[in-house]
Amino acid sequence: MNNTLKNKKIIISAGASGIGWAATKIFLSRGATVYLCDIDDKSLNKIKKHPLNNKKLFTYECDASDEDDVSDFFNQIKKKTKKIDALINNVGVAGPTGTLEKLNSEDWEKTLKINVISHFYFNKIAIPMLKKNKGGSIINLSSGAGIMGFPLRSPYAASKWAVVGVTKTLAMELGKYKIRVNAICPGTIKGDRMVRVIRDKSKFTKVSKSVIEKEFISMASMNCWISEEDIGKMCSFLISEDSARISGQIIGVDGNATRLD
Ligand SMILES: NC(=O)c1ccc[n+]([C@@H]2O[C@H](COP(=O)([O-])OP(=O)(O)OC[C@H]3O[C@@H](n4cnc5c(N)ncnc54)[C@H](O)[C@@H]3O)[C@@H](O)[C@H]2O)c1
Repeated sequence: MNNTLKNKKIIISAGASGIGWAATKIFLSRGATVYLCDIDDKSLNKIKKHPLNNKKLFTYECDASDEDDVSDFFNQIKKKTKKIDALINNVGVAGPTGTLEKLNSEDWEKTLKINVISHFYFNKIAIPMLKKNKGGSIINLSSGAGIMGFPLRSPYAASKWAVVGVTKTLAMELGKYKIRVNAICPGTIKGDRMVRVIRDKSKFTKVSKSVIEKEFISMASMNCWISEEDIGKMCSFLISEDSARISGQIIGVDGNATRLD
């Protein structure tokens, strides 16, 4: 059995489905306790019935972009533990699809609020808990769109580049406390999110969904989909002692994506 996360206490935002839930299952199977929030009560109810849901998984309904909700989530966690080993800022929405002049300011602001400002709410409360622990790991979910341009998705790209900027800055601020801060840039993940992204792009460009899907896969030199578990395993590594000297890094898990278009 892989016990690399034994006794680790991990907080993750937007964890009830997609990458967050895949990562949570890996953390639980490797001995961690996970504090997970999500906005979607249906997904939360579903995971409550999952066989892995034992005393080591705590779930809470919370809009990660609402500061009061995030504060309530942490108040519940603090009744159980004062120290944590890791925070995963996983929350992030795809945002609108379209050329910039066709987008509206409300969608722009919403994307930045959920994808970047929410991370600030989590970091602000989690950092003192990591300091109490005398070290730990913060992992921010960026994207290939956080290191390259991404036509038709300008607010998403802006938000994911911002995540990289915060990652680099926090790694410098927190190094002396042995708190490591890294960002993961997933490639094209096989899952519900990409089904929606491909549908929206097809609607906007009038190109068929199967052609768009092939184009997305071809953006990686390895010409492959990435799995949610690939990202979960990278998170697990970045929390474990195996990555004890890795901080300030922007890590692609993307089959070597060389373009996003
Ligand atoms: N899926 C991909 O192809 C891909 C690629 C690159 C980067 N990413 C990034 O990885 C992260 C996770 O992506 P995913 O594909 O698992 O996402 P997803 O769209 O599948 O959503 C995962 C969860 O987020 C929750 N959520 C949405 N808004 C929320 C909010 N305001 N508060 C709390 N929970 C909320 C949803 O209810 C859902 O359970 C995101 O930051 C995303 O931008 C994903």
